[in-house]
This record gives sequence, C-alpha cells and structure tokens, in this order.
Amino acid sequence: MDDQVSYVQFVNVQKSYDGETLVVKDLNLAVEQGEFVTLLGPSGSGKTTCLMMLAGFETATHGEIILDGAPINNVSPHKREIGMVFQNYALFPHMTVSENLAFPLRVRKLPASEIDSRVEQALSMVQLGGFGNRLPGNLSGGQQQRVAVARALVFRPKLVLMDEPLGALDKQLREQMQFEIKHIHENLGVTVIYVTHDQSEALTMSNRIAVFNDGIIQQLAPPGDLYERPENAFVAQFIGENNVLFGNVLDVSNGTCNVRVADGNVVKATVVNIEGVGKDTTLSLRPERVVIDPEPGSCSTIVRASVEEVIYLGDHIRTRVNLCGHDDFIIKIPNAHGHVNLEYGEVIEVGWDHQDCRALDATKKLIHWISSIDCNVQNWPWVQQKCSRTFSSLFTPSAISSKLIV
Ligand SMILES: Nc1ncnc2c1ncn2[C@@H]1O[C@H](COP(=O)(O)OP(=O)(O)OP(=O)(O)O)[C@@H](O)[C@H]1O
Ligand SMILES: [Mg+2]
Repeated sequence: MDDQVSYVQFVNVQKSYDGETLVVKDLNLAVEQGEFVTLLGPSGSGKTTCLMMLAGFETATHGEIILDGAPINNVSPHKREIGMVFQNYALFPHMTVSENLAFPLRVRKLPASEIDSRVEQALSMVQLGGFGNRLPGNLSGGQQQRVAVARALVFRPKLVLMDEPLGALDKQLREQMQFEIKHIHENLGVTVIYVTHDQSEALTMSNRIAVFNDGIIQQLAPPGDLYERPENAFVAQFIGENNVLFGNVLDVSNGTCNVRVADGNVVKATVVNIEGVGKDTTLSLRPERVVIDPEPGSCSTIVRASVEEVIYLGDHIRTRVNLCGHDDFIIKIPNAHGHVNLEYGEVIEVGWDHQDCRALDATKKLIHWISSIDCNVQNWPWVQQKCSRTFSSLFTPSAISSKLIV
C-alpha cells in the first residue's frame, strides 16, 4: 500500500490528556478511499480519542493527521466535511426527522429544493420514507439510529466516522443495522472509520480491522487474516475463541519450533512471534482445529486429554478438556451425523497440526491469566495455589511481579 496516496493518514500520532500518560502511542494508520476500517479494542484503548482527533474535537499531542492529501491538524471541525454518528444518536429532539436531516444542508446553504430532494433520498436510503414529520422521541431506538446514520450521510461527506453507533440497540436490531450500514457503504462508496468493541460486528462489516490495545494498534488486517493469522497473543485472544498453552521454546528450525508446555509435554508449533530458544511463548490454537482420536501420524502433535465438561449447543458440542496442564482447553465438535460422543471423565487422545498452532509472544500472558481469575499479586499465596499446576515450575513470585509491571 502506498502511504503517499492514502485518503486518511495518522502519522506518528500521540495523544495525552494530562501531559503525562499517552493514551494513543505513536499511531500510524492509513485508510484508503472507499474503505470500511474498524477500530476494535477493549474499553479505554484509545478508539474514541482517535476518532475525536480525526473529527477535530481533540488535538493530537504529537504527529500529523492527513485527510485527502492535506494536513488537518489546524483545520476546525466544521471545515473538515466529515459526517459523524455517535452512540447516543444526538438527534435534535425538538426538530422533526426531516428537519434533523435538513440541518446539515441548511448550514451549508443549499437551495431549498435541493434540500427537500436530498432529505427524501436520505429517508428512503435508511428505509424511513413517511417518517419525516415525526419527532425523534416518537421513534424506536433503531429508527432513531437510522436517522442519525442518514444525517451523517445527507451532505455527502467523503468520510464518515461512527463511534459505537449500534451499542444501545438489542441484538436483532443491531445485526439488521450492521447489514444496512454495510450496504449503504457499498452503494455510496463513502470511506467509513467505525469504532466498536464488538468483534462480531467488526468482522461482519469491515474491509480491514485495526485491533487496539493500550493506545497501540496491535494488528491491522482484513477480518479473515486477523482470525487465521494473529500476530500476537493479544489479537489471538481478542478475536474469536482461542486456546492458550504456555511454554518454553526448546528449539527452532525451518519456521517451526518445539515447545515444552507446563506438564512437560512437547508441542510442535509454527514460529510467529517468539524471542528465541529458551524463551517463554504463548501457543494459540483455535478450538475447531483440534482433532479427536487422530490417526497415528496424521497430526504433528498428539496428546492425552481428560474430558472435564460437555455442553450441547445445538450446532456444535463444546467440550472442555484438561490437557498439557491446562484445564480450560476447548474443543468444538460439529453436530454432524456420527459425531463422537464424549462423556465427563473420559480420557481421549487429541491432536493438531503445527500449522494451526501459533507460537506467539509471552509478555502479557500472566496479566491475561491473572485478570481472568480476578486476582492480583497482592494475594500471592492464593495465586500460587491456583496456578501451581500450570506455572509453579515456570515462574517465581518475583517473575510474576515483574511481568505484571510490563
Ligand atoms: N477528555 C478526557 N480527559 C482525560 N482522559 C480521557 C478523556 N477522554 C478519554 N480519556 C482517557 O483516555 C483513554 C482512552 O479513552 P478512549 O475514550 O479513547 O477509549 P475507548 O477505546 O474509546 O474506550 P470505550 O470502548 O470505553 O469507549 C482512557 O484511559 C480514558 O480514560
Ligand atoms: Mg469510546
């Protein structure tokens, strides 16, 4: 991708609200014209801050933001010609739907006849023809949201920013609106930068997704790449369901490595993001890639597992097993004819191919693990007891403390 011609560019952008802590750290992001790019990440990771800087409601502490070839750091928000939709609709309650839609056109001093025809078009685009005379308070949440989308598009901006626009809607309406916004984007060819912390929403709608954490883009890639080829442990864990095995790299050759995991087993994996031989790694393996009772020689890793829990979920059977010192390993068994029936307590063999097992960075593993069990290093004895099976051979209390500070 040629950075010179990208439609939106963040170049080394940093943001601090208090002059001390950077909530956006050295952001580089290039968005092409007509693209739908989603910023996805946990609460507080800096997504809204990035949109606000692009919209002009916040200033960047450092770096440059470029729109359509020109720096916009010093351009006031209303001159940026950017459409915006926020989570709380922000419609004018005292204006009818039509008046709300006409507002951005009046501000731009379009002739009355042009305003009328554009308002009509915008209403039919979001399937609200006939609702023009209603007040926003007399519409459902989904209808109000559609008006907000229409209002952001009615003045034909080249760029639309949407910040969690569907967060307040119920699941069914949210899914319907996802498709509507996606179709509007495809039909109008407008560039959209969208913020959400809902990964299925991001996967459904986006051309590319930027996964944020802690003010840094962890990976920017099309949805399929993020799921199939996560580049670090955070992305693997954040996108889709993921099994994690912690271990230590024994050897590396031709893009694969052998990793000794907590119970002493040796697992073969694909080298993606490790520091080298003798260093810790997080292995990532999708639940649907695990084979039960594999033919000898069919998988590069075969281990024994005991069945801890079997949950019937209709289209698949979700099975939790204990393997390689981890009792939270999930296997998904599709509910197809003749599928294997497992029972609690059964000991089985499972396997996988090293292509499906990615050796990733280890630095954040204890933070994930400790946050997942709602614990901190202050109650170390409890941690030690809780993690003895998995970690006692690998980590001392001081190692955990130092990793928590990372
Ligand atoms: N106006 C502000 N003044 C000071 N700190 C702020 C301000 N706005 C945001 N922050 C802080 O900046 C960090 C990033 O916030 P931001 O709103 O960008 O996160 P987010 O990714 O949009 O989160 P969410 O998913 O909860 O909306 C947070 O730690 C937040 O507390
Ligand atoms: Mg936000």
